[in-house]
Amino acid sequence: MSDDLLRRLKVHGSVPAHIAIIMDGNGRWAKGRALPRPLGHHAGMRAVREVIQGCLDAEVGVLTLFAFSQENWQRPAVEIDALMSLLEEYIARELDNLRSKRVTVCVLGDLGRLAPGARQAVDRIMADTAGGSDLALNLCISYSSRAEIARAARQLAEDAVAGRLVPAEIDEDAVARRLYTAPWPDPDLLIRTSGEQRISNFLLWQLAYAELYVTPMLWPDFTRRDLFEAILEFQRRERRFGRVSV
Ligand code: IPE
Ligand code: IPE
Ligand code: MG
Repeated sequence: MSDDLLRRLKVHGSVPAHIAIIMDGNGRWAKGRALPRPLGHHAGMRAVREVIQGCLDAEVGVLTLFAFSQENWQRPAVEIDALMSLLEEYIARELDNLRSKRVTVCVLGDLGRLAPGARQAVDRIMADTAGGSDLALNLCISYSSRAEIARAARQLAEDAVAGRLVPAEIDEDAVARRLYTAPWPDPDLLIRTSGEQRISNFLLWQLAYAELYVTPMLWPDFTRRDLFEAILEFQRRERRFGRVSV
């Protein structure tokens, strides 16, 4: 069934080069089953596997997943601990598989706030998957888009003070080159699960012209097929970038 959709989207139009996903609704998924919230996060790992495989199959070049925001540090300690253990578990379990599928993993965010175990796991997956050519997988962890933009502004100011740059040279490219996402094109498609119609401090700069796709589905229920449905919907959109239709 989902392979049918895959064939359709390949003939239907161009596949997004970069898909970004706000993976939301794990807590509500667990609550609906009278389970503790961490079990919702655990169930969400299956959906992560599904979308990675879907991107490989559809030949999407870049997948950026919002896994943990800086604001999420304000959640109860038990939930944060569970999420950090899950991150370590995910990396230990998936590393070989990702490497064999030629997926390069990058972790974007304020990694200085991670506990030593999580930090080591993150460094390991980045080092051990470097050079994979089939998919760039970005995991946004301890990530805040405003903090990312402020960091870019700070770097520009430091370069100016050190005489490496004159302020007149600061243009959009100069800012973009100092964001975590500098190596990749901007997302073409943003998917948010759980029906919330907001950006929640994710890729504010990079999403300027992304197509937005909000589904009421909760993240642990999201499948490869749902990813293909979102891509098909993307292919039906007319992207004008401020111009008039042709
Ligand atoms: C998304 O699910 C995962 C993280 C933010 C870490 P939530 O935990 O936000 O789930 P809901 O929104 O409470 O259902
Ligand atoms: C956004 O979800 C962050 C991640 C999915 C990691 P939240 O659940 O934290 O966002 P809000 O609080 O509903 O805006
Ligand atoms: Mg949420």
